[in-house]
Amino acid sequence: MNKRAEELSASLEQAAFWMPFTANRQFKKSPRLLARAEGMHYWTPDGRQVLDGTAGLWCVNAGHCRPKIVEAVKRQVAQMDFAPTFQMGHPIAFEFAERLARVAPPGFARVFFTNSGSESADTALKIALAYQRARGEGGRYRLIGRERGYHGVNFGGMAVGGITANKKVFGPGVAGVDHLRHTHDPARNAFSKGQPRHGAEFADELERLCALHDPSTIAAVIVEPVAGSAGVLVPPVGYLERLREICTRHGILLIFDEVITGFGRLGKPFGSLYFGVMPDLFTTAKALTNATVPMGAVFVKNEIFEAFMQGTEGIELFHGYTYSGHPLACAAGIATLDTFEEEGLLTRAGQLAAHWQDAVHALKGAPHVIDIRDCGLMAAIELEPRPGSPGKRAYEVFVKAFEAGVLVRVTGDTIALSPPLIVERGQIDRMFECVDTMLRAVS
Ligand SMILES: Cc1ncc(COP(=O)(O)O)c(C=O)c1O
Repeated sequence: MNKRAEELSASLEQAAFWMPFTANRQFKKSPRLLARAEGMHYWTPDGRQVLDGTAGLWCVNAGHCRPKIVEAVKRQVAQMDFAPTFQMGHPIAFEFAERLARVAPPGFARVFFTNSGSESADTALKIALAYQRARGEGGRYRLIGRERGYHGVNFGGMAVGGITANKKVFGPGVAGVDHLRHTHDPARNAFSKGQPRHGAEFADELERLCALHDPSTIAAVIVEPVAGSAGVLVPPVGYLERLREICTRHGILLIFDEVITGFGRLGKPFGSLYFGVMPDLFTTAKALTNATVPMGAVFVKNEIFEAFMQGTEGIELFHGYTYSGHPLACAAGIATLDTFEEEGLLTRAGQLAAHWQDAVHALKGAPHVIDIRDCGLMAAIELEPRPGSPGKRAYEVFVKAFEAGVLVRVTGDTIALSPPLIVERGQIDRMFECVDTMLRAVS
């Protein structure tokens, strides 16, 4: 361990850093630090190599410290560190938006830049509300999310999100929000490979909410094509299609949160293309810049943008962030797209998906495993909770796997994996062998 890392580990119990989504006291007593990264690996401060089974936090889709991206950021920071995008512009932001429009599904040629997935969610919700008003449907103020959905931590995304722990201490939040039920149905769908067969009818809940609230009050529905943070919940066959159909019938906008499913995770550039269901807006972040510089982007259908461009000239949308279209993020994003394209990464998950699926489903029958789910290069292994200590068993698997040199993610009693899209078959095998070993090592 180098000296600085040694000092850090020794002093963490009093550390100033209030860590996000972390059990601070527990972590600081027994920290897991990462000091360097390259390709498929991290290294700890004492030089131990860790295979990255989670693409950082579902975001480093091209692998770590890719030279082209690193060089682009270095060049940009030396050339122009920052420039505003309010009533000003810089070429690289226009260039990046143009490049994104080219990889987006047809008809999504407009891009609004944010700095994170949370900001993308709130931006998409605000655009949806403002669009409804712009087209003379200002009575549509309701927003519908889904149980177990995750749309970040800002007030809009938190309100439409459906993870109780993320909401319960933060007050009543945004008015006019309701939720669909989640699609997890282990009694009928446990150990499904890819999309589960049962549950398209869960989309009919939207009809129920329309009947309850009157559809003319509903502006938008937001869902993740595959719910990631709540444990990789794959939509049942026909579910997204039905949601789309109901939204269209009632003039409700459908927003896909593609913060995880965007940029190749499922084997197509976006989840909408994978499932063959088009939303009206979709959010992205994470792999947009390969996570090298924080950034998010909301893609909107051309008609939505055009609706804002009618009427008297002036600022069409009173919304934006100081760092919308930040030059460093745009430089990272363009180099990320170059890397994705040169290496075929936006579709590579499709080539690996069968191997991935076989590898994860081979854990059926391992101790404690009650469900396995997969889609593209995402997988979840759900464990039976230890009586009286929910989440503990999966957490122990995560800690032991890290000690053995494999990074997995844990959410509740579910172990989730989503490696960089450059992963090799042998590395996939190693990840699941490690999880298998650790399942046998915990009580
Ligand atoms: C689907 C989805 N939306 C939004 C977010 C929030 O993104 P961020 O943490 O960048 O704000 C996440 C983060 O995991 C996510 O998975």
